[in-house]
Amino acid sequence: MKALGIDIGGSGIKGALVDTLSGELATERFRLETPTPSSPEAILPLLEEIVKKFQHSGVIGCGFPGVIAHKKIQTAANLDKHWIGTNLGQQLKEKTNCPTCVLNDADAAGLAEVRWGAGKDNQGTVLMITLGTGLGTALFKAGHLYPNVEMGRILLNNGKEAESWASSANRKEEDLSWETWASRLNEYLSLMEAYLQPDLIILGGGVAKKAEKFLPLLNLSTEVVPAKLLNHAGIIGAAAHAQAIYEQ
Ligand code: BGC
Repeated sequence: MKALGIDIGGSGIKGALVDTLSGELATERFRLETPTPSSPEAILPLLEEIVKKFQHSGVIGCGFPGVIAHKKIQTAANLDKHWIGTNLGQQLKEKTNCPTCVLNDADAAGLAEVRWGAGKDNQGTVLMITLGTGLGTALFKAGHLYPNVEMGRILLNNGKEAESWASSANRKEEDLSWETWASRLNEYLSLMEAYLQPDLIILGGGVAKKAEKFLPLLNLSTEVVPAKLLNHAGIIGAAAHAQAIYEQ
């Protein structure tokens, strides 16, 4: 069974066909730059381009970097604010004729990791954190998702939002050493440990590929592991989630 997974991010929009039974990519990933401004008018044609690129006519799952509730986008911290209040699933369905389902990007990545990746078979509390332009979080208990957990937006003791201090974008933009960035991340993860008491923390996003540079610098009592599906997790999770919704 193949569904199209799309992951809308602050810097890139990625898509691929996904085998939703095995949780593997069935094609190469196709990536387009996120335009500026990142408005619905600018991004919708790119989503159509991705659908056309794969000549896809089946189910589409799309991860969006914001809260999705009652089928509408409620927040867009790192994208144009005109997204707020829109029904992206409906718009994409009208443009492509494909059954479409939209969910939070970190929730999508976490769903893939607990099903096929680093959180597989974990019956405890698993916190997935995506380190990218923003800082996405997804919370699971025995593999079940509690949707739209926005722990990247909490304020740290210095008064800054966690995602404006400890995200992967901070490391690049402020040219931080691995040590400095890891100490920021450690401060943030210590709060997550104290508030959520996770049994496992999975760190995802592109930077997870370089886990050996910063994981040994963290000092936490919770087990922290890199995501196994790396930055494919968002695409895989979105596709699998949408497929499951339309199979019901
Ligand atoms: C958004 C989250 C999203 C995260 C990662 C944050 O700015 O509020 O919903 O998961 O970025 O993209």
